[in-house]
Amino acid sequence: MIQEVLNRFHDLFGSEGDIRTYFAPGRVNLIGEHTDYNGGHVFPCALTIGTYMAARKRSDRKLFFYSMNFDRTGIVESSLDQFVMGAENNWTQYPKGVMWAFGEKGYPVDCGFDIVLYGNIPNGSGLSSSASIEVLTGVMLRDMFGYDALTMTEIALIGQYSENRYNHVNCGIMDQFAIAMGKKDCAIFLDTADLSFTYAPIRLEGARIVISCSNKKRGLGDSKYNERRSECETALSELQKVKDIRSLGELSGAEFEELKEAIKDPVRQRRAKHAVYENERTIQAVDALNAGDIEAFGKLMNASHVSLRDDYEVTGKELDTLVEAAWKCEGVIGSRMTGAGFGGCTVSIVKNEAVDHFIKYVGDVYRKAIGYDATFYVVDIGDGAGVLKVQ
Ligand code: GLA
Repeated sequence: MIQEVLNRFHDLFGSEGDIRTYFAPGRVNLIGEHTDYNGGHVFPCALTIGTYMAARKRSDRKLFFYSMNFDRTGIVESSLDQFVMGAENNWTQYPKGVMWAFGEKGYPVDCGFDIVLYGNIPNGSGLSSSASIEVLTGVMLRDMFGYDALTMTEIALIGQYSENRYNHVNCGIMDQFAIAMGKKDCAIFLDTADLSFTYAPIRLEGARIVISCSNKKRGLGDSKYNERRSECETALSELQKVKDIRSLGELSGAEFEELKEAIKDPVRQRRAKHAVYENERTIQAVDALNAGDIEAFGKLMNASHVSLRDDYEVTGKELDTLVEAAWKCEGVIGSRMTGAGFGGCTVSIVKNEAVDHFIKYVGDVYRKAIGYDATFYVVDIGDGAGVLKVQ
């Protein structure tokens, strides 16, 4: 794939000079949803699909962007003097946001770039195509300017900062972290309270990870994501009047039951309940996986979906249809929505011999109920972002 991106770069911008190439994956979260901005645990993994970039420094401050996913748009011209926060409405807002954020964090970007990009992550699907571009840009800038002291965790944090400040989406750290730190055949058990983490090998033995994409488009910025986050913050401040805690992730389910009356609004109470119990489920799920109990892991995935549907209310008809059909399918170990919700994708663990039937059955149910097709991806877990060497 990277060779095609490079060829296109040569066609558009010429082949002279120091052209370098990079890759950043997409991610899927196995369990631990809407816990990352609540100081809880998450359990995502990087995918082998992702975003490819060819880039070259310019001698002026201009930025020339070209995406092979939007051929008809052609070259998008901008400059380092045109950072328009929160106002841009195309994919260049992600690399530009990271260039801006590098400057803010003391890593100046003092020359422009020619950039060609290609991604094979479905856009806006909940597999973090935007965070993939952010980390990709961070890796490129580190390499081009020799900012070798920057760790991958710091690149993830700069990506999150750009998303929060430049694109006005109040996301947590999960996506950028998973994309920066991913490891082949492992999921990352990350404690978002202090960014400590361990890699957990995913040995599914006889089963695959299947992603079902609802094809309902979703923009995080205009969704209810920021609203959920502030509901949790209000619930936390109510709980802090009765207990000394820094985040919802510090509470066990039992502690929450004792304290929950401090949250005055029943809707807010359900939001906080999800955050607390989802964190517990994530810890239990990783224990189950480490003990080789994949069935228990699957049951916790299912419980996660129920909580996201009933208490956190971020699923919607499309995701519920996909998951509820999956639950009826023989050979499905667990199934849930993944990512922010409100459209996007579900993740299911499906026994090898049941994968074909799963895709047909869930696909048929979905088409009948929703009126258009879902798309299915049988995915593999890959490594995090980095420099690509082209022969
Ligand atoms: C989006 C955000 C993440 C996380 C998930 C929900 O993917 O970018 O930070 O909050 O939603 O778990």
